[in-house]
Formats: sequence, C-alpha cells, structure tokens
Amino acid sequence: MSMQFINLTENIGSEVIGVNLAEPISKDDMNKIEQQFNNRAVLLFRNQDISEEQHIQFSRYFGELEIHVLKQYLLPENPEILRISNIQENKKNIGISDAGQYWHTDLSYTKTPSRCSILKAKVIPERDGDTTYGDTCFINTASAYEALDADMKQRIKSLKAVHSYTDRYEKMRLAANSQRQPLTEDQLKKVPEVIHPVVRTHPITGRKSIYVNEGFTTSIVDMDPEEGKKLLQDLYAHCTSDVFKYRHKWRVGDIMMWDNCSTQHLAISDYGPDKLRFMHRTTVMGSEVF
Ligand code: OGA
Ligand code: MN
Repeated sequence: MSMQFINLTENIGSEVIGVNLAEPISKDDMNKIEQQFNNRAVLLFRNQDISEEQHIQFSRYFGELEIHVLKQYLLPENPEILRISNIQENKKNIGISDAGQYWHTDLSYTKTPSRCSILKAKVIPERDGDTTYGDTCFINTASAYEALDADMKQRIKSLKAVHSYTDRYEKMRLAANSQRQPLTEDQLKKVPEVIHPVVRTHPITGRKSIYVNEGFTTSIVDMDPEEGKKLLQDLYAHCTSDVFKYRHKWRVGDIMMWDNCSTQHLAISDYGPDKLRFMHRTTVMGSEVF
C-alpha cells in the first residue's frame, strides 16, 4: 500500500497511513513525510511496533537529538529517550509523571529550542478496555497568529518575552503530591532564563507563529508586569480556541510528532495513580528563534 495522509482537523495534524517505521523508509517517502510534517505541524502514525533504536533512528532523520536535563528519567542504555510516566519502581517514578500539564512547547526555555518531539505510547490509562485517559491536545500557533487582527499583529510585532524552566519547575515541585526534588546547582546552571521574540518565523516554511506559552513564558520584556500578564493571557486564550486544536486519544503503538516552532501541546491529567501511563519521547534539536 502506498503512503497516504489524512487530515486530523482543518488547521492541524495529519495521520500517516501505510508506513511501517520498523522498516527502512525510502528517501522519497521520507521527503514526503517531512514536507507533510512542515505543512501540518503534527503527524500521527498508528499501530507502530518499533524498538528504542528504531525510534531514535527515525528521529535522527529530523536532526540531532537532545539529552534532557533530568538525567534520572533517561533510558540508561539509550539516553536520547526520555521517559514520561507515573509508573513507580521502588517508590520512585521512572519518568516525569507530571510532564506537560500546561500549554507549552518543548524547550522554549532554551536558547535553541527543539525543532520537534516524537512521542511513542507504551501504556495508556484505560477503563473497561474502551475508555482511555491521558489525552494530549495540540494547537497550531501559526494558524492562531494568522487569525489575529491587524492591530494585535502590529502590537506584538517587535515584542520579546522571557522563558524560564526553573519558574515552571518550582510551580510543579510545590504542587500537591509532587515528587520533584529541588534542582541541583548543576541543573540550574544548565537552564538560565532566555528571551525570545513573541512572534517567531518558522525556519523552514517562513510562516509566523505566536511563540509565548503558559508553561514557560514569565513576562514580556520592557512592559509593565500587569499589562504584560494581561497581554499573555489574551494571547493564550486566543491560541487555545477550539478552531486551532486537535485532541488526541491515545492507543498503545501510536507515535505522534509535533513541530515545536508552530504548535503547543497540553497533557490532560484526568487519571489517578491507580491508572498507569508510559510514553517514550525523543527530542530533536532546533535552532535559534527569530
Ligand atoms: C512531552 C509532553 C505530553 C503527554 O512529551 O513533551 O508534554 O501527553 N507530553 O505526555
Ligand atoms: Mn511537552
């Protein structure tokens, strides 16, 4: 069967049909996948049974891979893979258990944020074999930018914003039942605050998008803090409107990849510790934001 793409919603996402990521993919198909990815910002591959090495190899097609700052959650034999999970061994989480439970884009708190992330579903919380929990929502922030009115586009055109990993980390650490430990000096050194433009241009497609997110953006540079906060809230409310959104209901064997330049995502935390969830993530390096 030849490869096909089916749109998930009008503004974001395609499902890729007819590809087995455990087998070599022709250059031609790989180019088509990459093009579709750039255009649609989120790709879904269902029913994939791939090894960790194959996950890494597929991810490397899109660039070099990041090694996450929270080393305890990396696979020891394959540190390019980050575990996201509420599963515990010896009373300790084996992965980040509260990852992404706020709208965000991966690594926006770094100087060169990730190009894309590729997430594989290993265990999905379910009840009675049909209802599943722990969906992930995605929004297209390029479509959201394009839908802004001219005044707002003009207003945010040259603005910059501060992004902070530690700010978010502390919020999560101080939440009820958090297992997060204070960051070590060494970890803190690796995640200083950074400043990015509020409107970014996609390095490949040239499309502009809104690049502030609830997860990691803390303020607008050179703006009164209250006014900045209000502007951020307005932009978040606009971005997260249903027209820009796709909500993914996971099945084991799904692989989702998303473009961190032009999307944001949110993990829905609607299951308790009695329901297990386990994902493997690779993170492809990106470039400076402009
Ligand atoms: C991530 C993330 C969301 C989820 O992997 O970057 O935010 O639903 N995950 O697991
Ligand atoms: Mn994320």
